[in-house]
Amino acid sequence: MRIPFIAGNWKMYKTKKEALEFAESFKQLYKDTDIRAAICAPFTQLDTLVEAFRGTSIGVGAQNVHFEDEGAFTGEISVAMLKEIGVDYCIVGHSERRQYFAETDETVNLKLKKLLTESAIRPILCVGENLSQREAGKEKEVVSQQIEKDFAGLTSEQAEQIVIAYEPIWAIGTGKTASAEQAEEMCAFIRTIVEELYDEDTCDKVIIQYGGSVKPENATEIMNMDEIDGALVGGASLIPSKFMDIINF
Ligand code: 13P
Repeated sequence: MRIPFIAGNWKMYKTKKEALEFAESFKQLYKDTDIRAAICAPFTQLDTLVEAFRGTSIGVGAQNVHFEDEGAFTGEISVAMLKEIGVDYCIVGHSERRQYFAETDETVNLKLKKLLTESAIRPILCVGENLSQREAGKEKEVVSQQIEKDFAGLTSEQAEQIVIAYEPIWAIGTGKTASAEQAEEMCAFIRTIVEELYDEDTCDKVIIQYGGSVKPENATEIMNMDEIDGALVGGASLIPSKFMDIINF
């Protein structure tokens, strides 16, 4: 039985003051909810949110991490630093990192290995095709190659800890959601790849989210799909009531 999991990705939004305001009102709305939820915030807001959500089951995630222990890597943050703050999740391989910050499947793989061997922080691995790849009918080829490279060398015990977020790049921040059927088809396909790489048990356990213009208006249809276990929400996670409406799909 996979428990639904809705995560917000704040990207580069919200100051500490704004994060605190969000946390105070979101905590009130979230009370008595049994759907798992988390907020992936900018690094400088993580300790504030861990503190604000203490005593609740709302998780906190980072949006990136480096794969080395420490060293001369200006601007980077290590797994140990995230662990010390007490974060629960870390997004890895978001398309914006792949596109603007030279993230590759090789670095994604190193980051997953580091998180899974040295912490209990669960990775949220983002995969997905761009518009030209979708128009050329190559979405499955692209996504299967990403998953194979990103999971290289991971055991099934490690693989089942990874939350996979299928985020078609053409649907991110565009208001253009993939149809529930398109999202379901790709999430089902991702599950078969995990089964081919590992086994049925692992593929049954792995949580697969859809991300890309998820909002209260389309959350029910998306979340009711069999192979979609959750959502990774950008813009709509910035407003407590909107994010809560998605969680209450
Ligand atoms: P939007 O929900 O704003 O389209 O962003 C999706 C996303 O990139 C989440 O990681």
